[in-house]
Amino acid sequence: MDLRSRCHPGQSLSVAALPFTVLPCWSGRVQVASDAAVLAERVATSLAQALEADPGRILGLATGRTMEPIYAALVRKLGAWPAQQQADLRRRWRSFNLDEYVGLAAGDPRSFAATMRQQLGDPLGLGQAQLRLPDGRAEDPGQEASHYGQAIADAGVLSLQLLGLGLNGHVGFNEPPCLASAACRCLELSASTREQNSADFGGDPMAGPSLAITLGLAEILQAQRIVLVVSGGGKARILRRLLQDPPDPALPASWLQGHPGAELWVDAAALGA
Ligand code: GLP
Repeated sequence: MDLRSRCHPGQSLSVAALPFTVLPCWSGRVQVASDAAVLAERVATSLAQALEADPGRILGLATGRTMEPIYAALVRKLGAWPAQQQADLRRRWRSFNLDEYVGLAAGDPRSFAATMRQQLGDPLGLGQAQLRLPDGRAEDPGQEASHYGQAIADAGVLSLQLLGLGLNGHVGFNEPPCLASAACRCLELSASTREQNSADFGGDPMAGPSLAITLGLAEILQAQRIVLVVSGGGKARILRRLLQDPPDPALPASWLQGHPGAELWVDAAALGA
């Protein structure tokens, strides 16, 4: 099946058009784009529309290669807004990121804090307190995780949670096995994840941090809307499992299946097409 040719920009395929059977729970919740660039544009458009409707909504944000073109497109779209509307957004913006490496200061270019500042904070002119992440240099990472989870609970409901997918099925840094009840915590990263992210640490999986602070599935599943974005052929195997297998601790992202506001935005390559 040539999925690519059937995915024109702005057009969606129904799950019935996918080259394999998909769990009924995903019906009507999968958006397929022809390639990663089109996918990024479409996700960014959806985010911009959500912010236009309510600039004060609390966003849950992610990092990773999947997010880079999305944030670039979002910055471009928001930059085209009238000056007054941009100023209003700047004033009201509130976001919390999913995770951070333990041991990296916000000023370290390999930290997620630095990535967010570079990709979103600086281009949009956001203050430090508006673009929140866990503090990777906190003396007690476990306590920092509890405080971070509490800060989100105090802020209110996450209106929209953006997610990428790890090669082992993690979301945030919720490594398998993981229960849906897991809360914000400090945890050990798996060998697979350290390998996946090794490019940021000179290509050596052992050179990167071994610990991270992550929001748990418990906080993620409380978001009103969840947008999981998956692109590239490297994710085809894990995406297929997510689309076909029932919820299981071995596949942390599978807990999204039971969330009524969870959406899956993918490109044709991620579907193995
Ligand atoms: C990383 C991050 C996630 C990210 C995911 C996918 O390890 N902790 O937040 O979404 O894995 O990363 P990528 O988009 O680079 O494939």
